[in-house]
Amino acid sequence: MQKNPYLALLILWPLALISLSSSNPCDPTNQRDPRALRSDQITVLMNGYSESRIPLLRSLASTYTSSPLVSSVLVLWGNPSTSAQTLARLAHNLSLSSFGPAPISLVRQRSNSLNDRFLPRFSIGTHAVLICDDDVEVDSRSFEFAFKVWRLNPDRLIGLFVRSHDMDLGAKQWIYTVHGDKYSIVLTKFMMLKSEYLWRYSCEGGAQMSEVRRTVDRMKNCEDILMNFVVADEVKAGPILVGAEKVRDWGDARNDGDGGRGLKDGEGRRVREVGLSSRRREHRKRRGDCLREFHKVLGRMPLRYSYGKVVNSVGEQGLCLKGGKLVFCDQYRR
Ligand SMILES: *[C@@H]1O[C@H](CO)[C@@H](O)[C@H](O)[C@H]1NC(C)=O
Repeated sequence: MQKNPYLALLILWPLALISLSSSNPCDPTNQRDPRALRSDQITVLMNGYSESRIPLLRSLASTYTSSPLVSSVLVLWGNPSTSAQTLARLAHNLSLSSFGPAPISLVRQRSNSLNDRFLPRFSIGTHAVLICDDDVEVDSRSFEFAFKVWRLNPDRLIGLFVRSHDMDLGAKQWIYTVHGDKYSIVLTKFMMLKSEYLWRYSCEGGAQMSEVRRTVDRMKNCEDILMNFVVADEVKAGPILVGAEKVRDWGDARNDGDGGRGLKDGEGRRVREVGLSSRRREHRKRRGDCLREFHKVLGRMPLRYSYGKVVNSVGEQGLCLKGGKLVFCDQYRR
């Protein structure tokens, strides 16, 4: 398009400067004034990795743009071996896939570090962010309800998939597990939180946080657990589980049925525990290793249990599950 190469250089030069100056995500100029952030909308940060899932990713991203609550969708591409050509095509396709006024943009992550999904970004113009995977499909009413719950509890972590830490009394060590009646960890399959926590995770906490972020890199796992540590440490409260009407986790065959998400009856859970594959046992062990390592380095266990599940009711008033009983949500907050 550009005939004069000098003119092109002149135009591109400021762009090069911009990308250089923002190359340190923790540069204070990258931190937005919270007063300038919108509260009525949310920014969706969708993780992308697998090229074979691109059609699904496009469909999920465009569904989010059809919600008036979404300010923009950022697809964070974390697979370093994807070719520039494929990414350019994906970026083009995504720019055509937006249903609503919310734009979709594609960002190639600067490294394959799992910590990068929590990097603060100047383009995030909202108080709330949704961290989600490219294979988790949530119906729009549940998404909107989850955002409503976040707005009532902006300091908490909100999610649809939960797990737990626990103390193994025999081995006297922290373990990673699933409980039928309580939870302390929200998974990044679908996690809503205030954008300030991205800064806290990536840029604060001194040497201890640097060390546990390095643990995430070494384990190639557990960035979600670490975010739960960061938030629980800040608010001294556990996360909030929201019950969704329809969720499909394409990455997890168990979720064709009830999904191991949410708080289901203990019976079904025991059956699944027995059927734990060795791969899943290995996964659980690694996650336990992370819990122990984070606990050791930080010198404390900030994770807290929550017991309720917030569900959307037919009427105006949300109903919350508390101790096995449905109560109005205003009685739910403890
Ligand atoms: C882009 O869209 C075209 C047409 O739908 C499709 O054939 C191609 O696979 C897509 N590529 C990517 C990377 O999304």
